This record gives sequence, structure tokens and C-alpha cells, in this order.
Amino acid sequence: MIKAKVVMDRDFAIGQTDPRLFGAFVEHLGRCVYGGIYEPGHPTADRQGFRRDVLELVKELGPTIMRYPGGNFVSGYNWEDGVGPAKDRPARLDLAWFTTEPNTFGTNEFVDWCRAAKVEPMFAVNLGTRGGDAARNLVEYCNHPGGTHLSDLRRKHGWEKPHAIKFWCLGNEMDGPWQMEYKTATEYGRVAKEAAKMMRWIDPTIELASCGSSGRNMQTYGRWEDEVLEHTFEQVEYISLHTYFNNYAGDTAAFLASPDLMDTFIDEVVSIADGVSARRRSSKKIMLSFDEWNVWYRTRRNRADRVKEGWPVAPPILEEIYSMEDALVFGGACVSLLNHADRVKTACLAQLVNVIAPIMTETGGPAWRQTIFHPFAHMSRLGRGRVLRANVDCPSYDASYYDPRGTLDQYFPATGVQYLKLAAVASDTGGLNILALNRDLKRSIEVTIDTRGFGQLDVAEALEMHDADLKAHNTKAAPDRVKPRALKDAAVAKGTIKLKLAPASWNVVRLEPAK
Ligand code: AHR
Repeated sequence: MIKAKVVMDRDFAIGQTDPRLFGAFVEHLGRCVYGGIYEPGHPTADRQGFRRDVLELVKELGPTIMRYPGGNFVSGYNWEDGVGPAKDRPARLDLAWFTTEPNTFGTNEFVDWCRAAKVEPMFAVNLGTRGGDAARNLVEYCNHPGGTHLSDLRRKHGWEKPHAIKFWCLGNEMDGPWQMEYKTATEYGRVAKEAAKMMRWIDPTIELASCGSSGRNMQTYGRWEDEVLEHTFEQVEYISLHTYFNNYAGDTAAFLASPDLMDTFIDEVVSIADGVSARRRSSKKIMLSFDEWNVWYRTRRNRADRVKEGWPVAPPILEEIYSMEDALVFGGACVSLLNHADRVKTACLAQLVNVIAPIMTETGGPAWRQTIFHPFAHMSRLGRGRVLRANVDCPSYDASYYDPRGTLDQYFPATGVQYLKLAAVASDTGGLNILALNRDLKRSIEVTIDTRGFGQLDVAEALEMHDADLKAHNTKAAPDRVKPRALKDAAVAKGTIKLKLAPASWNVVRLEPAK
């Protein structure tokens, strides 16, 4: 058993969480759209072909904003192919995932699905094979009320009212050679700036995110952000970050340490953005959009997991099966995002269904929750409010995290990794929510939390996720093999919260003012 002492004060906050921090992502990739959210003919499908069983799970998961339509896919996408009568829409080869895209689901269907799921749509525009002209046309089609060719086309297609899409991503991972027409920072910065200018001229109320690096391990990382923001600083509110955690090395301690490198990544991008701002003597602060994050490695490197030959429609690719171990790392990432609530205003779990996803489906069959579903649902439900500056005093360890880029081996030091990783959120009800990861594989942590300025609190809910088998996962036959259970050792005594966290466990505790 090890001990940890946590001190926090109700008045010392990092920041209020933005509702968009709890977003996810739907890409035209594998069975995310077709066979995932959309499956006409499925026993639960509604009139529009939306799977109701998936919608129910999405509501329980609690995402607030949904990025669409990619991802790598967007860099070759003609949005015009996905609107109008479905029978007239062209099928196209998608060079991102080497599939055939039938285009029977597109912009308008996605907006309707978002309304049904009660989430805000977030759109990415194609700045790979296309540019500012296609981007501004899409904004006009979606957001202009009427009286022009494109806005009237939307009305003719059956959507009388504008979609009022607020959040737009200026392309996707444009620094990556795997992207259709990837660019240098200079090339991308120029295109993004001009596209942004025109998109905002059409709708001044939109918010824009420029592409940051597709990962902290990219060779151009840092210089890319600096130059892209040099071009786009006046036009954008956000810069994006993407991270996929891995355990290629089979080093669980390093894998569990990796969310701390997400903290470092965020801090570094904040510094670069603030540097660009400082050079201008500007008071503007560029916020961060962490619009792709998850664990992803088993179905990443091997071409057979990413590509099914013969240009199929919606093949089962990137269908990562998540374990208990992955849920722990995932929970650590939730804590990292919450603890940067002052600068990370948007974040999207990549992705939503089937493709590296918290929800799995069988085409024609049932839907179930993967292990990572639970920490996300906890973060979305308990992360609303003011994140407090919690001082954690606890033993730590050092690790070396392997995060290869292409064929290049790269190790990243993670030092002073505290076994306890924790976020504390003061809720609107006057209560306090604790989200905590114990990264010690063998020992429990006895945690004492000194909460100042709260008055008497009672434990209203306490849950843990823990399984002696770190490889345990959920399947269609055993959909609840890994799920949260009651955390018994959670109590408040003389104003101090006492928790006992099992080895390798994810824990959440909701405290409410005593009655
Ligand atoms: O989410 C899967 C892929 O990961 C996305 O298409 C791309 O943006 C990233 O490389």
C-alpha cells in the first residue's frame, strides 16, 4: 500500500470546462458510418436509417460535439457528392482507406443524426485535394439562410432552415505524408488563412481551428505550429492536437505514464501559441482543440488491419478491441484534458462506433460498450464545472515511452510519473467530483483529500474499474465483462475524504453537500 495526500481549495481553479471538451468523431471510415450510426434495414433503424440502439448508447456515453466527415477521408472529399437525392449520388474511390464510398450518407443526414443524438455538429473542410472555394461553398450551403444558388439547393434538398454549424476544422493532419495532398507549413498556412477568411465572410459567427501537428512525434512538430499560426493567427480561434496512445513495446508502466506526455504536449502547444501572440503584442489567446485522441495501436501498423483489398464498401477496419489496461490509459487522458480546462476548449474522442471506438456493433446485430466507454461517460457526466488546482503528493516512477513515427523508433522520457493521477471538479450543485487513476500495478493507494472551502460533503456515488486481468475486454457474448462497480472504500471523516484505490484502477467519486 502507498499513500497519497491531495489538497485543494474551492477558490483555486484551473478553469471551467467547456461543454465541447466532451466531443467525439465520426469519419467515413470502415463501419463507423455504414453499419455504425447508419444502417437502413437494421431491426432498430428509424425512418432515416439511424440505428436506435447506437443512438441510445451515444446518449449514455454523453458526447457533446461530433467531428465529421474526417479524418484522412476529408482530404479527398467532395461534399457535393453527399447531398441531393441519394439515388443520384456518385460512388467514389476513397484514397484515405482504399474503399468505395457510396455517398448515401452525407452532410444533411449527419446534421439530422446530430440533432437526434443531441450533439453539436463540427465540420472539417477539405484543404487537401480542394481548397478555399469548396470550403466557402460548403459554408454557404449549410449556413446561409436562402436566396443564393447553394443555400436554395439545401432548401430544395429538404432542409429549409440553415444548419448553423459553428465549429469548422481547416483540413485534417495536413503535415502528414499519408494525407492526400499534404503540405508544408507555408503551403498549408496560406491556404488555411484564405479559406478561413472567405468562410467567415459568409458567416461571421463561425469558429475556426487550424491544423496543428498530427502528433508530438512528427519531425516538423513545433516549427509547424509556429508557422501555421503565423499565417492564421488573425483568422482562427483554435489550433488542433492529435494523440494516439500505444503499447507496442508491451511496457505497461510506460503505457500508463503516456497521458503525462499529453500534458506536456498541451503545455508545449500553449507556449508556442502564446509565443506567436507575444510577437504581435496581442492579448488574443489561441485555444486548443484536441480533436483526435484515443488509444490506437493494434490495428494501426499492419496494412491488413487498415486496408481490405478490392475497394469494398465499409469494410471492418481499425476495429480495435479495448482492454482494461487501455481503459486505464484512457482515464489518464481524461484527467489530462480536464486539468487543462483553461486552454483545451474542444476535444474529440476518435472515434465513436466500430472504428477505434467506445461502441461496437455487429452489422444486423447488437451494439455493446467497449471498456473505454466507461471513463469517457464518467468524464462527460462528472467533468462539468470548475476544475480545481489539486496538489498531489504521492510516490512516482520514471518510464520511457515508445512512440514510433513510421519506421523511425522514438522513445520519450516520462519522469516523475505520480502513481496517482487525479482531477477534481467543483460541480454546479456545490459538490465535488473526483476522477482518479491508480497506476501502481501491484499496490493500492490510500488517498487523503483535504478539501478547503467546501463545507461538509457526503459521498453520493463511488465507482471503480479494476480487473486482475489487464487484458480483459468486452465482447458481444460478454458485453459487461469489464464495467464500473461500487468503490467500497470511499468515506468522509471530519471533513477529509478518504479513498482506497485498488492497484491498476480507474475511480470516480461524486460528493454532494451534506443534507
Ligand atoms: O482516426 C483515425 C485517423 O487517425 C484519422 O482519419 C486521421 O486524422 C488520424 O491519422
